[in-house]
Amino acid sequence: MSKAPKKTQAPKDVPTTGHSWDGIQEYDNPMPRWWLWTFYATIVWGIIYTILYPAWPLVTRATPGLLGASTRGEVAQEIARWEDANAAIRQQLVDTELTAIADNEDLNRFAVSNGAAVFRTWCAQCHGSGAAGAKGYPNLLDDAWLWGGDIESIHYTISHGIRNEQDDDARYSEMPKFGEILEEEEIEQVVEHVLAISGQEHDAELAAAGATVFEDNCSACHGSEGMGDREQGAPNLTDAVWLYGGDRDTLIETVTYSRYGVMPPWTGRLSEADIRAVSVYVHQLGGGE
Ligand code: HEC
Ligand code: HEC
Repeated sequence: MSKAPKKTQAPKDVPTTGHSWDGIQEYDNPMPRWWLWTFYATIVWGIIYTILYPAWPLVTRATPGLLGASTRGEVAQEIARWEDANAAIRQQLVDTELTAIADNEDLNRFAVSNGAAVFRTWCAQCHGSGAAGAKGYPNLLDDAWLWGGDIESIHYTISHGIRNEQDDDARYSEMPKFGEILEEEEIEQVVEHVLAISGQEHDAELAAAGATVFEDNCSACHGSEGMGDREQGAPNLTDAVWLYGGDRDTLIETVTYSRYGVMPPWTGRLSEADIRAVSVYVHQLGGGE
């Protein structure tokens, strides 16, 4: 026994939209008042907002809005406020003798933390975020210095850079490409000598011959004992610290083709206060002299 389907009927006072789909009709109820008024209020609010604040996109920028609000402007103001607050100590950093900065605790602390930020922004891509360097980019944490590890030498290196074309006072030296000067056999001998003086496994006979080649061709820059020369940025070849690598193949490559490490100058790109700050930062990393 089945029940006849219940017939629902529209109450008489609610009109329908007039559509009918297979006998199904749609009531035409008005929107609730509260909903409508909220809806109108959002439209009014939206219009007022686009008048007061940056809103409509134009070709190169958006409409600025009557209030002149700008998040970019807020950031600029914030930066200016910090710079004002630090202006005095930055000036002090520029006016103080480089060698005396470390004696002034507050100034030194400011320089180190500011210098660390400068380093992360401008130096880390080459020297590594921890300043440990990479092949061709010297480690700034250790005691081995190409051009000198006292604060004044570091400051000079950073100010003018190395072997660049932008700064006439850049540090400069050029190791010849010995592939064009020496016989292959002589290069093998001198490399064997470098292996010997750096305390690595080597062929004693070749190394003995290489000592003469070294004295004739290399000692002018690297010193008779191979201890290096900071005047010319020539590395010490007797320590275990290598800029390019100390294994036989890398040494042959270095001597045959030579290298030409370039660092840009920072005078002009960074303020003197920033250059000093990053010099102090590098100096206190561990290898400073
Ligand atoms: C484009 C890469 C590059 C950038 C960026 C760079 N350097 Fe260098 N830096 C080098 C190279 C390459 C050398 C070694 C050049 C050579 O063979 O003498 C060097 C050498 C140095 C030295 C000398 C080390 C020594 O043993 O005497 C110091 C100090 C130094 N950099 C500090 C900095 C600081 C501080 C910054 C950031 C302000 C910086 N560098 C940014 C590439 C760079
Ligand atoms: C005119 C000076 C000069 C002469 C001469 C010279 N060198 Fe160099 N040498 C340098 C400089 C400067 C560097 C630093 C490399 C660079 O970035 O260009 C260097 C780097 C090297 C390195 C790389 C060390 C490392 O840490 O990776 C080796 C090895 C080397 N020289 C061996 C020799 C040998 C062997 C001779 C002689 C056959 C020689 N050099 C002659 C200036 C010289």
